[in-house]
Amino acid sequence: MSKITSFSLLECKREGKKFTALTAYDASFANAFDSEGIDVLLVGDSMGMVLQGHDDTLPVSIADIAYHTRCVRRGVKRSLLIADMPFMSYATIEQAMTNAAILMQAGANMVKVEGGHWLLETVTKLTERGIPVCAHLGLTPQSVHLFGGFKIQGRDDDNAQRILTEAKALEAAGVQLLVVECIPAQLAKTISETLTIPVIGIGAGADTDGQILVMHDVLGISSGYIPRFSKNYLKQTGEIHEAIRAYKDEVEKGIFPSSEHTFN
Ligand code: KIV
Repeated sequence: MSKITSFSLLECKREGKKFTALTAYDASFANAFDSEGIDVLLVGDSMGMVLQGHDDTLPVSIADIAYHTRCVRRGVKRSLLIADMPFMSYATIEQAMTNAAILMQAGANMVKVEGGHWLLETVTKLTERGIPVCAHLGLTPQSVHLFGGFKIQGRDDDNAQRILTEAKALEAAGVQLLVVECIPAQLAKTISETLTIPVIGIGAGADTDGQILVMHDVLGISSGYIPRFSKNYLKQTGEIHEAIRAYKDEVEKGIFPSSEHTFN
């Protein structure tokens, strides 16, 4: 069993093999996802909503992410472990350095940051100092108040072009992975085909290199509401390990996401 790295994901992309990612926040679920072959685990700041019960991700602190990263690390043997940098923890390059170091020392293999052009220097500085970075474009939840809600991004030509330009610039700055969230499928396809690095989609159609979902949505235990782009695999299978296997299988076979989970 070889460990997943950004290089093995790159190999998947080159070979046209889809890979899977899930959020995880504790050792037990992390161990279940890892042992079922989920390639990437993200200690997401979505914990603000699904664990802490807030309306958005903004209240999450670096201490929260570090604590859950330490928990998840103990459950992981094979998967690549990414930790989210929470709201305002990377507003300056100095803050980014200090806080990324905390997450790497907590056990992350990579950190994730939300944003485009303003982050280019931060990405370069982090990677120069040995910290791998995953970027996040499209519906970046830390900017929910700027967007006026959790809305699909990149619907008009100008915004689509800006997201594509930022994706290329982030790759040139050194990011090793990119998450695109809630953007039209055609834009996600163009980004995935244009970039060399692997692109992971959520609400971004079937043509990205990998897919990620929030574990609470996959298990149907988000408080009342499951986003349109997600799927409750526990309802379909009735057992947690089977649900995870079904998610992985459907992503790898190109069955999920289907048109009902996709924005055009
Ligand atoms: O915080 C999170 O869980 C995320 C994923 C939805 C990509 O950023």
